[in-house]
Amino acid sequence: MPSTVSMTVNGKPVSKEVDDRTLLVQFLREDLHLTGTHVGCDTSQCGSCVVHVDGKSVKACSMLAVQANGGTVTTIEGLAEADGTLHPMQAAFREHHGLQCGFCTPGMIMSAVDLLQTNPSPTEHEVRDWLEGNICRCTGYHNIVKAVLGAADEMRSASKAAE
Ligand code: FES
Ligand code: FES
Repeated sequence: MPSTVSMTVNGKPVSKEVDDRTLLVQFLREDLHLTGTHVGCDTSQCGSCVVHVDGKSVKACSMLAVQANGGTVTTIEGLAEADGTLHPMQAAFREHHGLQCGFCTPGMIMSAVDLLQTNPSPTEHEVRDWLEGNICRCTGYHNIVKAVLGAADEMRSASKAAE
C-alpha cells in the first residue's frame, strides 16, 4: 500500500508517496537520488548504508521509509558545511588515507561521527569495537581507525578553542 512519508533530509523537508515496503535506503537513493548512501548487502551486515535518523546512526537497509516518517535524516551528502568545508571526520579520512575504493566510506564516516557524539575520546579498542558493523574490503581497517582517532583529536581541540 502506498503511504505519504514526510521527513527532513539534510536540512530540507521532503514529502513523497512510497510503497509501505520501501526501505529507507531505497527511498534515499531512488526517490531522493542521494546515492552517497551505498548498498553492499541484503542482510544488514556491511554498514555501507549507515545514515543518521534523529541524530543516531542506523543501517538504512534495516528500516522502512515509513518508520522514518516525521524524523530527521542526515546522509553523507549532508555532513559537509554549506560552503563545502568537509566535516572533520571526512577531512581525517582523507588525511589518514582511511579509504581505498571508497565504497564503505560513507557508512564508516556516519558511524564514526555517531561514536564521537557519545564518546569524544574513544580508545583504539572502542573505535574498533564500534565499527564492528561496518565492513571494509580494502583498507585492513588500520587507517580507518587512525582517521577516527585523528578526527576525535581535531574535534576536541576545536571545541576547547571555542570555549
Ligand atoms: S546495505 Fe545495509 S548493512 Fe549492508
Ligand atoms: S575502502 Fe573499499 S571497501 Fe572500504
